Amino acid sequence: MRYSSATAIVTALWAAKSVTAAPVEDPSLGFAVPVTHNFLEVNHNGPKSFNDAINKWGIEKDLPTGEHLKSDLVMHKEVAKRYADSSAVAAPGSSDVEYTVPVKIGTPAQTLNLNLDTGSSDLWVFSSSQAISQTTGHDIYTPSTSSTWKKLAGFSWSIQYADGSGASGDVGTDKVTIGTTTVGTQVVEIANIVTSAFVNGGNDGIVGLGYSKLNTVSPVKAKTWFENVMSSLSNKLFTATLYHNKNGTYDFGYIDSKKYTGTVKYTPILTKNGWWEFPSRNYKVGRTTYSNPSTATGIADTGTSLLLVSSGAAKAYYKTISGAQANS
Ligand SMILES: *[C@@H]1O[C@H](CO)[C@@H](O)[C@H](O)[C@H]1NC(C)=O
Repeated sequence: MRYSSATAIVTALWAAKSVTAAPVEDPSLGFAVPVTHNFLEVNHNGPKSFNDAINKWGIEKDLPTGEHLKSDLVMHKEVAKRYADSSAVAAPGSSDVEYTVPVKIGTPAQTLNLNLDTGSSDLWVFSSSQAISQTTGHDIYTPSTSSTWKKLAGFSWSIQYADGSGASGDVGTDKVTIGTTTVGTQVVEIANIVTSAFVNGGNDGIVGLGYSKLNTVSPVKAKTWFENVMSSLSNKLFTATLYHNKNGTYDFGYIDSKKYTGTVKYTPILTKNGWWEFPSRNYKVGRTTYSNPSTATGIADTGTSLLLVSSGAAKAYYKTISGAQANS
């Protein structure tokens, strides 16, 4: 979907006759790209490429201010792409029960604190369609006050999570910004009703980051925010850095070398079930390595507080804790 603000930026750039040399710096990546020349002479397709890239995925980006920087971005698609990369604060709720991220939805933006959940694939929010008794203490999304909201008539969603909690409601599209990266036409599921765990809980909804295979929108499944943004990122990935009692981050499009030690290892994802599922050959308790059955898998789920393991792993772990007893 075309975006009026993106169109406005490109129009302004066409009016700019030339640009001076101006290094573009992305603090998160620490790279600099020196740019010279008149972009109209250097690359006739620059603005078109930029516009196409933005419109193809409905992605908008808060660009640095100043026509020079904006023009530089138009010239260098790669640079423009890197500017889709961004980072969002993940704040731990009380006792690290969950981590929420401020997410901006609609025009003008309404900010809700959402749980980024790699274990599900629905983006749903507390909304003005719920009874007031359900929403006390929560920020809600009011579609009627967003000029960019479009209801999808005849669509609905209904989800039940592994802990028995759930929510359901209507469906539409709006712009959704996490960090500084915006998807212009994101399917947003608004809650009509949620279960008590959500009423009493600390988030205003969920951003599912699993595979859209798990999405519950009917009659047609919705793509997740990450699936929509992926092609515009420098690297098609995101990382989660979650701390005990301390703000962490979700980074989109890059791996921040300050956030890990050692070497990043990669493993293929088994996409069949829609989770971030991978083979789990071994586990370690203290310094002892044990083997799992060859078919064992694990899933990386940022939206749960549970560590579910095989009984063998649980036994090996609790054997190291004096006084530990089995409790049904
Ligand atoms: C953690 O992040 C939240 C949300 O952005 C913010 O309101 C809060 O002030 C941050 N806390 C600290 C200690 O930085």
